[in-house]
Amino acid sequence: MNHELLPPFPLSRPRRLRQSPALRRLVRENPAGAGQLILPLFVRAGRRQRLPIDAMPGVCQLSPDEAVKEATQAYTAGVPAVLLFGIPERKDDRASGAYAAHGVVQQALRLLKQELPDLLLATDVCLCEYMRHGHCGIIRPGSRDARVLNDPTLKLLARTAASHAEAGADLVAPSDMMDGRVAAIRAALDRAGFADTPIMAYAAKFASAFYGPFREAAESAPQFGDRRGYQMDPANALEALREVALDIREGADLVMVKPALAYLDILHRVKSTFGYPTAAYAVSGEFAMIKAAAARGWIDERAITLESYLALRRAGADMVITYAAKEIARWLQEAS
Ligand code: PBG
Repeated sequence: MNHELLPPFPLSRPRRLRQSPALRRLVRENPAGAGQLILPLFVRAGRRQRLPIDAMPGVCQLSPDEAVKEATQAYTAGVPAVLLFGIPERKDDRASGAYAAHGVVQQALRLLKQELPDLLLATDVCLCEYMRHGHCGIIRPGSRDARVLNDPTLKLLARTAASHAEAGADLVAPSDMMDGRVAAIRAALDRAGFADTPIMAYAAKFASAFYGPFREAAESAPQFGDRRGYQMDPANALEALREVALDIREGADLVMVKPALAYLDILHRVKSTFGYPTAAYAVSGEFAMIKAAAARGWIDERAITLESYLALRRAGADMVITYAAKEIARWLQEAS
């Protein structure tokens, strides 16, 4: 900005443009509509099942038929996409539920595609929900060491992504943080005839305490150790840029920063450095904190949720993954 071209200070009256809703709308830099929202859904086997998750009020584990109902409501309110997580009936040490042709995510994909053909179906590609030990990849058999074996894990991730595409996924989102997973998944998708299926990489995913409620929701807490051997150190920003660069080189079409509100600096740097389509994931702990304070009457849930959404857009998110997607979309409808 060339400051010499600006009018002298006394003439500048920014409030002129804040006088009415219409003026404020005209000059809004980062409109945040329903069209930029993605709703995560937890699917489990069965029919007519809705199992509430304690630390995430209003969020349930859903059987595929109930997932269709939930997705229909969100879609009707204007949310264009859902992101599926699976809770399998059985876990093992090879995550077989993740890539089973009739796994729970695969079943939900087929049903959702049939019932809501225009809804965008994204899937989380990870192994932790399907592994007995709860880690995101393969652990040396019999070991209680949380060091996940990188390259053997890639094969299973690639297989999982291909099986999601086969079942109808429009977009796959690897969240495991193994090195080289985007390239492995891209190759597997291409080989299976899904060259047009985009990859949304959880590129800068931090080892965060904000994932606590999710692990209850997805029954995926690690049984020993933690995820710091594969997810990023919350102290690091430059490394996040390197992670994003790698994922883009390997073929990511969209990149993600996760968590969201505590990582606005990362989001901003990722968007301004790469200019790629960028997603922010407002994670379970962020959602739970707002719900808990709102339940006590300490904060205005609607105002804080909408403000948080705007903040993510302003920081550089093209799209936001949030458990509040349906509510946000409805509030926006009411307001317009
Ligand atoms: C799977 C995965 C996790 C989340 C998204 N994908 C959990 C984790 O990494 O422990 C967290 C989402 C949330 O907290 O809302 N690896």
